[in-house]
Formats: sequence, C-alpha cells, structure tokens
Amino acid sequence: MQELRHVTSINDLSVDEIEAIFSLAQKYLRDLRDPHIAHRIARSIADARGSILACLFYEPSTRTRLSFETAMLRLGGKSISSADPATSSAAKGESLADTVRVASNYADVLVIRHPRDGAAKLAATYANVPIVNGGDGAHEHPTQTLCDLFTLLQEGKNLNKMNIVIQGDLKGSRTIHSFVYALARFGANIMLMPAKGMELPSHVDWRLRNELKCYTVPRARYEKDNASVDALYVTSNKPHQLSLISDIDVKVKKGIDAMYVTRFQKERWTEKSQDYPTIDSRFLKDRKYSKTSLLHPLPRVNELDIALDSDRRAAYFRQAAYGVPIRMALISLILGLDSERSLQRYSGGFRAADHFVYDGHASGIRCANKNCIVHDSAEGKYASNRFHVIDGHDPRLRCFYCETDVETFTVANKKTKHYDSDATQLRTAIAKHERDLVLFANAADAEAAGYSPPKRRRKAANA
Ligand code: CP
Repeated sequence: MQELRHVTSINDLSVDEIEAIFSLAQKYLRDLRDPHIAHRIARSIADARGSILACLFYEPSTRTRLSFETAMLRLGGKSISSADPATSSAAKGESLADTVRVASNYADVLVIRHPRDGAAKLAATYANVPIVNGGDGAHEHPTQTLCDLFTLLQEGKNLNKMNIVIQGDLKGSRTIHSFVYALARFGANIMLMPAKGMELPSHVDWRLRNELKCYTVPRARYEKDNASVDALYVTSNKPHQLSLISDIDVKVKKGIDAMYVTRFQKERWTEKSQDYPTIDSRFLKDRKYSKTSLLHPLPRVNELDIALDSDRRAAYFRQAAYGVPIRMALISLILGLDSERSLQRYSGGFRAADHFVYDGHASGIRCANKNCIVHDSAEGKYASNRFHVIDGHDPRLRCFYCETDVETFTVANKKTKHYDSDATQLRTAIAKHERDLVLFANAADAEAAGYSPPKRRRKAANA
C-alpha cells in the first residue's frame, strides 16, 4: 500500500510540490473563474465526484473550513463537517484519536483544526486517510501559507529575493510559523517586526538559522532605514556572506515588497489584551512601502485599519479568496485527481521523516511546550513520548508532534551504563545509529536510573 501523504507542516511539502499546487490552482482560476471577479472561482467540475472531505474543527473558523468545503464542492465531491466540539462526541469525552479512526471510514481526506500544538500529527498517526492540518495551536497552519505565497505570486512578487516584513504576534501566530519556513525556503528576505514580547519562538528562530540556512543581519546594519524592524533573515544560498550584507542594504533601500500583518492571538495568551500596534495609512506613507502588498490571514480585529480596504496595496480579501483554488489544488493532488500532477511524483522537500525518531517513553524527557498535545490530560495518552533527533553541530530533540525543541538533555548508553551531557556523545551515537542510546532530562535522572558519569569525568573528580 502506498504511504499516506499527510500535510501537518508546510515542510511536509517539497518546493516542487508547492509549485505544483500553485500551477494547478492557477489552472482552476483560469478555467473556472468568475467572469467579473478575477480572484473568484464561480464554476464547478466533476473530478472529485464520489469523494468526501471531512472537516473536524475543534476551534472556530470561517475561511479555512468554508474554503475547504467550497473547494471540495467545486471539485464535484462532497463535504461533511464537525464544526463545533460542543455538538460532537468530543463533548462526551471522545478523544481526537478515536474520532479520527472513526471519521477515516467516512471520508477520503480529513482536515483537522485543534487548539493543541501537534494535534494534526497525532491525528495522522491514527488515520487511514490523508490528514491536512487546518491549524493546530500555535504550531502551524500550512494551507494558509499556500494561500499567502500564492497571493504574493498573483500580486506579481518574486518570492526569491523579495523583501517582506512580518508584523504582530510572531509568537502565538501559527500562520507566521509556517509562513517564515516557506519564505526562507523560497529565498525571501524576511524582516521581523514583532509586537512587544511577541518575538518568534526560539525553536522557530533556530530552525531558520540552522536548518533553513538563514543568515541574520544585525539590526545596526539597517537601523537607519528600518528603525522599527527587529531582525532580518535571509537565505544563505549565495557565495559568501559579506556580499550578501551589502546586497541586502541595497535591497531594503529599494523598498518593501510585502507586509504580513497578524492579530493578537488572544486565544494563545493568558493576558487577554495587549498593547498592540495598528497598521494604517500613516504607517504605510513612507516611500519604502509605496509598492508593498498588504497581507493578513484574517480575521482582523483592530490591528489593520479598515480605511486601508480601498487602498490599492490591500491584498487580504483576495488572499482569502485564493483559499478556494489553492485548497482545490491541494485536495486534487492528495486524492490523485489530476493525471498530470501528483504529490507522490515529487520529492526533495525538508521532511521530518528524514530524522531518526527516538522513543523516549522510559527516559522522562517530556516536550517543553505546555500546549503540546502530549500534555493534554485526555489526548496525551494516545501520544507516545517521541522525538526526532536533530543531528549536527548543535544536536537537539524535536517533539514528534508539535516540533518544539528540547535543547538540554543527558545522553546515556545502555551497554556501558555511562551517561554524558556532552552533545558530542549524541552526535557519535546518532552517526553510529546507536541502538543502545538512552536519553534523560538531566544527569540526576540518569543516575537515578543506575547510570554513572563517564570514566574521564570520574578520574578528573578524583584527581
Ligand atoms: N486565516 C484563517 O485561518 O481564518 P479562519 O480562522 O477564519 O479559518
């Protein structure tokens, strides 16, 4: 049987696959568009006749759920939805895992939205049909990123070398986490403008720098022109960094191609209100924003002045409309409806599956993210305590579900009964595909389990 293709992260899709989705979405827009509104799909086809899409939404949604349902209907299929956990058997205490096992027998593809980070990945481990992440906690929202990138292309932007400002709640916004990974992979220059205390989570920042090879330009280099921007990431697929820096200075002076605004994600914070900036025409009057496309995943609250709606730079309602052709294309590729393109035919993307998975059930290491599905009292028992081992200069463990990193741990060997907190031990163990590897949260846990420090350390202590 062919392996199921789930989309729980934007990194589950290769660049080729993302481009295949764009090309098919473009074809749908061209063939099925409303004659009066270029970004609106107005006609249907019958390619998905006989197929069913199910939306299992445990959090509110307008765009994601309705555009997935519309996309399936426009493809000629049918859709079923559980849009409110208060009216499904979740209210009786049924777990996500059991719901997915059941719904897998009702539909051919499941779209999951859930307040817990990593819920989509958990669902994928229980499903026997493809799972698409419609937003899981603060983790990711990969199909929103497909809409965002497609919008930029439709607005005439070149993703590679584009200058884009990402503004607002960079910590709590799952749309931004998927988006920055994709932007880095496409080679955009990413400029962060977080609201106070809402910087990117450190593990997202680490991945941009270390896995997606972004190079950080210090604030001082461009402070004069971009005083409100806190960081600039750029991809490092250039010959050497010095030329890159001067290149950036020139580019920033050239202007900002796009600005991505987000609301304060109050559902992810204990503080229910925050001092949060508003983007309005006054903010955008600087010359560097004269050709900026303004994006927002919506819903907006007060962070984006409604007076901008008639501004030629505002692209956010078109962005929401593109949810239909983009999700039609994704469904079509996942279900293999398009004879010219298929997800299976492409390869080469960044895949979590490439990393060795350590089953940490015995070691006491737990995901550090308190909103991870593994910490949910009802759902957590369906998850195992698993981590991808991220090898390299600065090895770390990445939660299999929510992809938050555990940076410090103690490495031990079942055969030698020694432990070591030195990261090189992990590197060696991974390189040798060490079967005897066992990881602990700290040295005390290792000692409590009967492990002792390596000989060289004991010698030093005795000396
Ligand atoms: N952008 C987005 O995810 O919107 P909804 O919450 O309305 O689905």
